[in-house]
Amino acid sequence: MSTAAIDLTSVRKSYGDKIVIDGLSFTVAPGECFGLLGPNGAGKSTIARMLLGIAPLDAGKIKVLGEPVPARIRLARARIGVVPQFDNLDLEFTVRESLLVFGRYFSMSARDVEAVTPSLLEFARLEDKANARIADLSGGMKRRLTLARALINNPQLLVMDEPTTGLDPHARHLIWERLRSLLARGKTILLTTHFMEEAERLCDRVCVLEEGRKIAEGRPHALIQEKIGCHVIEIYGGNPHELRTLIRPYAQHIEVSGETLFCYAPDPEQVRVQLLGRTGLRLLQRPPNLEDVFLRLTGREMEK
Ligand SMILES: Nc1ncnc2c1ncn2[C@@H]1O[C@H](COP(=O)(O)OP(=O)(O)OP(=O)(O)O)[C@@H](O)[C@H]1O
Ligand SMILES: [Mg+2]
Repeated sequence: MSTAAIDLTSVRKSYGDKIVIDGLSFTVAPGECFGLLGPNGAGKSTIARMLLGIAPLDAGKIKVLGEPVPARIRLARARIGVVPQFDNLDLEFTVRESLLVFGRYFSMSARDVEAVTPSLLEFARLEDKANARIADLSGGMKRRLTLARALINNPQLLVMDEPTTGLDPHARHLIWERLRSLLARGKTILLTTHFMEEAERLCDRVCVLEEGRKIAEGRPHALIQEKIGCHVIEIYGGNPHELRTLIRPYAQHIEVSGETLFCYAPDPEQVRVQLLGRTGLRLLQRPPNLEDVFLRLTGREMEK
């Protein structure tokens, strides 16, 4: 018997003749925070939808909270909170009404919903918006309401598709803190994100996808060590392609992304010496992070 919160085995899915999930397997343990990372179109939302039985799979097996999906997902749904990538709030309702309506999906009485409403509003820092119309909320406030709403049924598992997209930095830090406290209370979280800092801070493990295939999986810090493992110098200004030729002998690896050149070097001093006296360049030396791993794994302009 599987004790995993989420278990995917060799899952495949196509839309028309396009394969969007290509033999994907991963397991999320109870209490774990698991991050799905990958470029736009990699298949993250498709996986989130398949886990919830919204999008059918073509082949493979999925179990969520011990229930096979899609056959018995309805039994698990009462223990799952969902944050879709795009808010699907009914703009005509007030914040309080929207929680009442949502609670009904979980057979909650008005009294039950009213009992949890203050804590949900506090979660989202929307205490003073209880009677505001959703149409009058800002984009970030709507996102915070969607996050709070996902907790209405005190779920054991949260499936969150880009939970903090559209939030200002304060709100993002607030939500990170709230998600960490949910994890401390033993909840399981599967999240997708494009914020590598978010994944690095929150996730016990991440899975990096590209075109529906897993290209890396592991603990953020282990991946950073394994895939990068040396200092990073970001170089702005100048012609990245000319600079690349100059510093290539001293770099373990170089990545050009937009107007920034990322130089991965065991001895950054050697690189700095090459650039001495060049005007208009800005250099930032820093430890490697998960964004470097992402750029390296999914980079189009990879240069050994
Ligand atoms: N309903 C659909 N019909 C046809 N193709 C679809 C459908 N939904 C998704 N796709 C395709 O499946 C692929 C994966 O899409 P998905 O939304 O899962 O990506 P994602 O990783 O969530 O991307 P993003 O980071 O942009 O949210 C894309 O090529 C997309 O065009
Ligand atoms: Mg998506």
